[in-house]
Amino acid sequence: MTRFGILGGGLMGHGIAVALAQAGHCVVVYDTDPATLASLDERIVRALERCDMLPGDVGSVTARVTAAESLPDMSSRVDAVIEAVPERLDVKHRVLEALEAKIPAVMPVWSNTSVLSVTEVAKGMRHPQRLVGVHWWNPPYLVPLVEVAPGAETDHRFVQEACDVLNRMGRTTVRLHRDVPGFIGNRLQFALVREALHLLEQEVCDPVTVDTVVRASLGLRWSAVGPMENADFIGLDLTRNILDSLAPHLSSAVTFPALDEPLNAGQRGRASGSGLLTWPSGRAEEVAQRLVNGIRRNLVEP
Ligand SMILES: NC(=O)c1ccc[n+]([C@@H]2O[C@H](COP(=O)([O-])OP(=O)(O)OC[C@H]3O[C@@H](n4cnc5c(N)ncnc54)[C@H](O)[C@@H]3O)[C@@H](O)[C@H]2O)c1
Repeated sequence: MTRFGILGGGLMGHGIAVALAQAGHCVVVYDTDPATLASLDERIVRALERCDMLPGDVGSVTARVTAAESLPDMSSRVDAVIEAVPERLDVKHRVLEALEAKIPAVMPVWSNTSVLSVTEVAKGMRHPQRLVGVHWWNPPYLVPLVEVAPGAETDHRFVQEACDVLNRMGRTTVRLHRDVPGFIGNRLQFALVREALHLLEQEVCDPVTVDTVVRASLGLRWSAVGPMENADFIGLDLTRNILDSLAPHLSSAVTFPALDEPLNAGQRGRASGSGLLTWPSGRAEEVAQRLVNGIRRNLVEP
C-alpha cells in the first residue's frame, strides 16, 4: 500500500483522502488553513454517513487519514503526493516549488487540476517528469472515473504507475494520449454548460428548465449509453444530418452575460444564497445528499 500525502484538504482533498483510505492506503493531509485541517475528521465522517457507511467501517477509514502539522511533516511520512490546492496556476506553482524542496526527486506527484494544462502546472518544477495530471470527480469516493494525463515533460513510467495504482483500487481509469486543458470530462461538461447559458441568454427557457431537461433525459441516457455509442446506434448519417442543421445555431461564445449578471450583483450561487437559482437554508445539504443517492443508484460497470 502507498502512503499518500495530500496538499489541500478542501472539498476534493478530503474526498480523495476517503477514496484512498477506503482502498487501504494511508493518507496524510496538509492544508495551510488550520480550520480546514481541524474539521477534516468531521467532514470525512459526514461524507461516509451520507453513503450509509456503518460506524465500524467509518472508523477504519478515519484511522488511515491523519492531518500533518506542516509541509515537512507531511513530506517525511509519504511515498507519493497529490496536490489539491485551488485552481490557480500561481498557487499551484508556489505549492509545487515548496514541495519539491522537501521530497526526493523520484517521488511521484499528481495534480488534481480540473482544467489547467498539466504542462503549464509543471512549468518551473525541478523534476517535471514526475508530475501527472490525475483528475478525480466529486465526490471522489463515489464517482469511479479518474482521468490521467501526461504533461509534455512527464515520464510515461509515472503515468503508468498512476494508472496501475488506480486500477488496483478498482477505479475506472482513462489515460489521455496527450495533455489538453479540461481533460475529456470537463470539456464535454462545459460545452453543455456554455450551450445552456446561451439558451438562457436567448430567453428560450429558465435555469430550472435546463436542469429538468438534463436530469430527465440526457443524465439518464448517458449513464447507460455514451454519446459515441449512441451516434452509431442512431446512425452516423442521422448524426451528420442533425449536426448539419444544428451546429450553426450552437454557441461558440467566450463571454457569458448570463453568469456576469448575477455575479456583478454578488450572487455567486450556493455560497451567497442565490445565483442562477435560490438557495434557502437546507438546500445545500439536500442537494449533497441527492447527489450521493443519485450516483449510488446509477453506478454502472464500465
Ligand atoms: N470542486 C470540484 O468539484 C473539483 C473536481 C475535480 C477537481 N477539482 C480541482 O481540485 C483542486 C482543489 O479544488 P477544491 O474544490 O477541493 O478546492 P477547495 O477550495 O475546497 O480546497 C483547496 C484547499 O487548498 C488549501 N490550500 C491553499 N493553499 C495551500 C497550500 N499552499 N498548501 C496546502 N493547502 C493549501 C485551501 O486552504 C483549501 O482548503 C482544484 O485544482 C480544482 O480545480 C475540483
